[in-house]
Parts: sequence; C-alpha cells; structure tokens
Amino acid sequence: MDKLLIHGGSPLAGEVRISGAKNAALPIMCASLLSAAPLRLTNVPHLRDVTTLLNLLGGMGIAVSLDEKLGLELDAGRLHTPLAPYELVKTMRASILVLGPLLARCGEARVSLPGGCAIGQRPVDLHIKGLQAMGADIRVEHGYIIARAERLKGARIASDLVTVTGTENLMMAACLGEGTTVIENAAREPEVVDLAACLKAMGANIEGAGSGMIRIEGVSALSGAEHRIMPDRIETGTFLVAAAATGGSVRLRNTSARILEAVLDKLREAGAKITAEDDAIVLEMDGPPTSVNLRTAPYPAFPTDMQAQFMALDCIARGTAVLTETIFENRFMHALELQRLGADIEISGNTAVVKGVAQLDGATVMATDLRASASLVIAGLVAKGETVVERIYHLDRGYECIEEKLSQLGARIKRIH
Ligand code: EPZ
Repeated sequence: MDKLLIHGGSPLAGEVRISGAKNAALPIMCASLLSAAPLRLTNVPHLRDVTTLLNLLGGMGIAVSLDEKLGLELDAGRLHTPLAPYELVKTMRASILVLGPLLARCGEARVSLPGGCAIGQRPVDLHIKGLQAMGADIRVEHGYIIARAERLKGARIASDLVTVTGTENLMMAACLGEGTTVIENAAREPEVVDLAACLKAMGANIEGAGSGMIRIEGVSALSGAEHRIMPDRIETGTFLVAAAATGGSVRLRNTSARILEAVLDKLREAGAKITAEDDAIVLEMDGPPTSVNLRTAPYPAFPTDMQAQFMALDCIARGTAVLTETIFENRFMHALELQRLGADIEISGNTAVVKGVAQLDGATVMATDLRASASLVIAGLVAKGETVVERIYHLDRGYECIEEKLSQLGARIKRIH
C-alpha cells in the first residue's frame, strides 16, 4: 500500500489549480443514465471514485469516452443492465446515486445496499422512502435494493433529515416522473445546485435548487447536454487550511469564495488574511493561528467535510477549541492519530476539545477515511521532523495529485510505493 512521507516545517507558498468537485461529478455522471443522448462533461477530477463510477456505469452499458482535453462523454443510449453490483458499491457508497436515475429511465433497478463506512452507519432509508412516495415498489433482498416502477409519479417529499445524496437521487428520479414533485427540507449544497444546472441543460424542469424546497415538473424524456463540473470547495478548503497551519501564503485558482463562505469566516477568525478574486482565492498567514470553535451542519453552515482539517489547525493554534460534529456519529478517528503526533485532544461524544500545543512531532500515522487523511497530511506539514501517513488510498479517492500540488507549494512530501 502507498504511503506519504512528509518532512514538516515549510510554510506553503505559491499557486495551484483546484480540480473539479468530486461530490458534483459523481451525481452528474449518474444523471447521464436519464437520457439516451450523450452527456459531455469537462473539469471532471481524476480521482479513484470517478474511475470506480465509470466502471459501474460501463457495466450497465454506458459508452464512456475521453476526449483529448480529458473531457468525458457518457452515452446511455444502449443502457441494458440496471444493476449496481456489491463488488463496486462496497468500494464507493455514492454508487447509491444510480438508483433514482435507473428507476426513472428503466422502470427497474438492482443496487447493492451500500455498507456503512468508517465515519458512520450511513443508512439510505430516506432515499428509499422518497422513491416509494413516488410510487416505486422497493424491497431489500440478500443485500440488494430491488426497485420497480411503471412510471414514477410526482409527490411531495419531506425527509426529516437533510440528506445531500438523498436530495440528488430524488431530484434526478423526479425529472422523468409524471407530474410535480416537491422536495422539502432539501439539501442546499452547491453540488446539488450544480447537478440541477446540468439536469436543466438536459431539458429538466427544476426550480428552487439551492433552497430548502425544490420543485420538479416531470418530462417524458431528457436530451444530451454539455456541462462543466464546479470547483471542489472541500479541496479548496483543505489547501487553505494547510496554508494557514504552515504560516504560508497561497493563491488557489479555478475556484470561488462564494461556495465556502462559512469556511473562509473560520479561517479569518483563526487569523488568516483572505482575498477573494473572480475565480481564485488568496490566503496569507503570519504567525500561529488562533483556536477556532466550530459546529458542523448542512450547507450553508460549516461543512462536516472540513471538520478534520480544522482539527489539525486547532492542534497547533493558540488557545483551546471546541469542535462539535452533528452530521456523522463517528467522524473523530483522525483525533486518535493526531494524538500520536503530540496533539492534546479530549473526545466526549460528538464533541472534541483541542488544546493548542507549541509543536507536533513527526510519527507514523494511519489514514482511516478520506478527510481524516487530509487532516493527517496537514498535521505532517507542520510537525517537526518526519511523518509517514499510511493507507493513503483513502486520500486518492477525493484529492487529485495531492502530493504534486503540495510539492508545487514547497511542501517536502513524496509518495512511497
Ligand atoms: C454527502 O454524503 C457527501 N458525499 C459526503 O462527503 C458529505 O460528508 C455528506 O454529504 C454531508 O455533507 C457525496 O456527496 C458523494 P447525507 P451523504 O445523506 O449524502 C443521515 C466526502 O468526504 N442519513 O447528507 O451520504 C446520515 O447518516 C463525503 O466527500 C440517513 O439517516 O450524506 C448522516 O447522518 C463523506 N438516512 C446525515 O443523514 C438517509 O437515507 C447526512 O447524510 C441518508 C442520510
């Protein structure tokens, strides 16, 4: 298994390009299932999860082609097998996003139940309840969701929890349903808005994406379209936190301040100077950060996907911080690894109290999930001496060429095969 070897102590400086958003690309690739005409995507990030989804879609009969500019064309004209097998779904939970489109386009779907993952049990009951409200007959047998529907009917769906992929699954299914669907308590994440923009380009009739209530008028068929994937706000936030933690000065281009305001507010609170340009963000940090408290919640509040990265920042900040994780029940595993580097963290339930220490000391640590890995890389960049991060396949799922980008910014980091 690959590892990352990091020599801490160099402030990050320079400029890198932010990639397309993983969590926009995945649902948008699944939207290709809704149409018999090709969907052309640009700015698709080159990630393990994207490759996994391409394998999954290919197995269903989607024709996948890459053009010379790394543009992706997905043609579901000859979609023949509405099946998402366990072998692929177990490696990527987001595969559940094929359920709504397959049911809407083919009237049937067999999708392996995604297991839990390191950060939590991750049920999909709200996806299933929403599709049943639209008239689908859904059973779970031998670990597979077996779904059928002559034609999905418009419905009013109010799920008691805000679910990002749940909102995306139901929005995609409703595009081809008969009549009007209203999704209340909908997720407002920018990736939901990007998916809606792509669906509208395909001819869908959607209003209210980005608000808590999304209205979809079903149509009989969708056409092909071209769509450019939005920038990755979590990759953006991760690099900004790394720059702040190392006392550096960076410019991130091909991204936007508008999609991560809550994160920028916290970075300013920690002492960073942030300048927003049209399609770039500049961060300058003099001296150690000040501890910042945070509480994760659905967008536009502080994103759970940035909690681990900020915990690394708070480990070497001045003061004491309280971090509360309200979205997932087990998203503090990075704390145990950060303690190996000398961090002072007390966990009780969904709250972590982080006392800033003057210095972390390099050690070997183990990545447990995607954003925890990023947290350990940030800690390694500031720790004295050498840090080895193991099991970095987690990192490769969601960050494109992270060691190359960090090296461009002056980090002393290399991958050991
Ligand atoms: C999406 O996951 C993201 N993944 C996650 O990013 C992100 O952490 C999460 O949203 C929250 O923002 C993708 O977009 C591919 P949820 P998702 O459904 O949709 C509970 C990353 O690092 N819930 O919004 O699976 C659930 O257990 C990943 O890129 C149910 O109870 O998250 C959780 O407590 C990690 N029943 C809460 O809702 C359901 O049917 C929010 O989960 C669905 C969800």
